[in-house]
Amino acid sequence: MKRPLIAGNWKMNKTGSETKAFFDQLLDKIQRDDVDTLICPPFTSLCAALEAVKGSTVQIGAQNMHFEDGGAYTGEVTAQMLTELGVSYVIIGHSERRAMFNETDETVNKKVKKALSAGLKPVMCVGESLEERESGKMEAVITAQIEQDLDGVAEDDNLVIAYEPIWAIGTGKTASKEQAQEVCGLIRSLLTKKYSEAFAQSVRILYGGSVNAANIDELMAMPDIDGALVGGASLKEDFARLVQFETK
Ligand code: PGA
Repeated sequence: MKRPLIAGNWKMNKTGSETKAFFDQLLDKIQRDDVDTLICPPFTSLCAALEAVKGSTVQIGAQNMHFEDGGAYTGEVTAQMLTELGVSYVIIGHSERRAMFNETDETVNKKVKKALSAGLKPVMCVGESLEERESGKMEAVITAQIEQDLDGVAEDDNLVIAYEPIWAIGTGKTASKEQAQEVCGLIRSLLTKKYSEAFAQSVRILYGGSVNAANIDELMAMPDIDGALVGGASLKEDFARLVQFETK
């Protein structure tokens, strides 16, 4: 059974003490029997978050990792450093990392493979820019990202994909439910070509980009949207409302 996943990406926000305060206030409200809840704090707040969610169903993820197992990579962390802490998910290839930290489809591909081999659940992000959408290249861009980012990646139940149109991230400009469904459906059909039908149907595809309390219900009602990757709204009480989405 495919369980919806509501994931918070805190980006470069919340110290350890702020992380504790968030869970003190919201831990009960962000748990649901039929939904997986995930919070991805900065590296320095992972321990505080893991401690705060002990005994609950809330999962903790990182926002990045390196694809090597160790070595001279100042400022980076390995998959094993994350798993040993108790981290279960890792966001890979967020558009901010692609745009500001030179991540490419090649590094995303290496990271996805490494995360899966370490037993982590990668939340692999893809998405087009406004210019690409307006010039009619959305489908080609998404197709190329899925092909390259998943090159040589075998069927693995831990794989999660997030469609995040760059123009909708942090802008308050959400994709309409039809636009979001169109691309999540495209991703599903690309998976169907590459993998078995059963696997393609089982992969969780999230939508991300200005998800909020006003649009979560209609997004979650779409057939190929299995969850949300939430930035701004995951930092505050609104996140509880997102976990408590209703599709009827
Ligand atoms: P946003 O960010 O919800 O603030 O638009 C989403 C994301 O970047 O994952």
